[in-house]
Amino acid sequence: MSKEINTIGVLTSGGDAPGMNAAIRAVVREAIAKGKRVKGIQRGYAGLLQEEIADMEAKDVSDIIQRGGTILQTARCLEFTTAEGQQKGAEICRKHGIDGIIVIGGDGSFKGAQKLAALGINTIGLPGTIDLDIACTEYTIGFDTAVNTAMEAIDKVRDTSTSHERCSIIEVMGRGAGYIALWCGIANGAEDILLPENYDYDEQKLVNHIIENRKRGKKHHIIVNAEGIGHSASMAKRIEAATGVETRATILGHMQRGGSPTCKDRVYASTMGAMAVDLLCEGKSNRVVGYRHGNFVDFDIDEALSMEKSISPYQFEISRNLSL
Ligand code: ADP
Ligand code: F6P
Repeated sequence: MSKEINTIGVLTSGGDAPGMNAAIRAVVREAIAKGKRVKGIQRGYAGLLQEEIADMEAKDVSDIIQRGGTILQTARCLEFTTAEGQQKGAEICRKHGIDGIIVIGGDGSFKGAQKLAALGINTIGLPGTIDLDIACTEYTIGFDTAVNTAMEAIDKVRDTSTSHERCSIIEVMGRGAGYIALWCGIANGAEDILLPENYDYDEQKLVNHIIENRKRGKKHHIIVNAEGIGHSASMAKRIEAATGVETRATILGHMQRGGSPTCKDRVYASTMGAMAVDLLCEGKSNRVVGYRHGNFVDFDIDEALSMEKSISPYQFEISRNLSL
């Protein structure tokens, strides 16, 4: 028999992402609408272990849907990766009467949720990361905002790059996953896109491409480089020396993680937040919410973590033709 859920805890963990506040707001209000109590846990699992836990009312989430970041703060917590830390976390949940917990974060955060579920605390994960690198879902909270922020920034760099007839290497976030780089590469019409998933480190190919494009009269050459490849500044120096084309590097950095969430991030994060509460109320645990084939769905966390996802080879392939 599934246990009755009276009090729901909510935390954000790992890298922040625009839309996390919309998800928190939805969790709090859907839970209150269903007659449940909500406790906000500050600073992810680190705050759980420090018992940074406070009641949340409907008014505590007023005026946040449009704000980037997370009002609950976020953190990475080494102690929670240990069996002792997880045991302590589960005991703290019980001490505070938390029957179910909603974890908003990436795959690492889901592993923590999985451990809490195994220790008897019902858990639901919501995919929160700008990287889009969660295999079970086609949407993650924050990606849409981040990719639009990066796209607008690259448009601006492109203007000055064209005026000066330069090559610009623009580094976007994504240490292990190139979704932001691929999407911006297509959206900004980049001449080259370097992804951690398939870059062959053949700089001579880039050099040849720049020289070819110059001969064809192109006034700029935009290279979108993913953080996982990095080293944009030294790459710019080498490319300038080899091509004779002035080359500059711009690293967009953490500006991609901030800012007011797009409409899509607000609506999807709100839907997922409410759905997480509804799943807990139905007695579900060890589940993660995703978006697939036009529907909001849920998966077993173990199954979700075993899934694989990769960038679309077709989209990468056409990106070269589209920048001719
Ligand atoms: P993300 O959730 O964005 O993937 P991290 O990988 O940094 O970010 O994970 C966030 C936090 O989740 C970690 O700091 C840690 O507290 C917890 N976590 C990560 N991996 C595990 C694990 N294997 N077991 C328990 N907790 C984990
Ligand atoms: O996971 C989101 C992300 O922004 C990655 O793209 C990036 O590699 C990482 O977080 C950077 O994290 P930090 O906040 O530690 O700089």
